[in-house]
Amino acid sequence: MINILGICGSPIKNSNTKIILKEAFKAIKQDGVQIEIFDLYNKKIQDCCHCNWCMDKQSKNEYCILKDDMEELYPKVVNAHALMVASPVYLGRLSGHLASVLDRIRCIHYGRYYAGGMKHKTGAAIAVSWYRNSGIETTISSIHWAFLTYQMLIAVPGSISTFGGAGVSSFSGTGDFDSKDKHQILKDKHGIKTAGLTAKSMVEIAHIIKKGKDVIV
Ligand SMILES: Cc1cc2nc3c(=O)[nH]c(=O)nc-3n(C[C@H](O)[C@H](O)[C@H](O)COP(=O)(O)O)c2cc1C
Repeated sequence: MINILGICGSPIKNSNTKIILKEAFKAIKQDGVQIEIFDLYNKKIQDCCHCNWCMDKQSKNEYCILKDDMEELYPKVVNAHALMVASPVYLGRLSGHLASVLDRIRCIHYGRYYAGGMKHKTGAAIAVSWYRNSGIETTISSIHWAFLTYQMLIAVPGSISTFGGAGVSSFSGTGDFDSKDKHQILKDKHGIKTAGLTAKSMVEIAHIIKKGKDVIV
């Protein structure tokens, strides 16, 4: 079984980011793949305070000194073979909410008990912007830097998008919109396709890593 964890980095309920993440997962519904989404809507997650408690005092199931909704997320991250991290574009990079989550995951890689816990997980990124050419690639890249720091392997969709899932939430990324329809992302068929291809690539890599680990260990 391959465990896939999607993290939706929008603070909005039923966000465009959540929708494209769900669409991406439709492309990988198959036997042997278990999918779960952790949505940052309504979640209370503090910033990492760099106290280094995790490095000195962390123990089994005691991940971090800060007590908040990360306690629900930590075991899901530990058990995941692959993370699909989706963010709205905020000023050309990932949302602050998501940045806090990725910072806090530090304790699963550098913590005393969970040291190296992120190594060789697969990472895949999706970004959703309002305007076309307005920060999608830099947002995906800002997520990829976290994956690289955690020694994860990055899945990309291939030629139609290159770096990850890339969606727009206004009509064709022009900024035009219909105020009665907050889910324009569903009309971005190309963006949804890039997210699905990224998800498929993620599952392939996760399978390869899982098999490879059986050989190494
Ligand atoms: C603080 C902030 C910064 C934003 N910066 C950008 C930006 O740089 N480029 C862009 O195209 N859209 C930007 N947006 C718009 C969002 O990326 C866009 O509305 C996106 O669809 C939100 O996703 P959601 O519906 O999943 O929350 C910004 C929105 C906010 C709140």
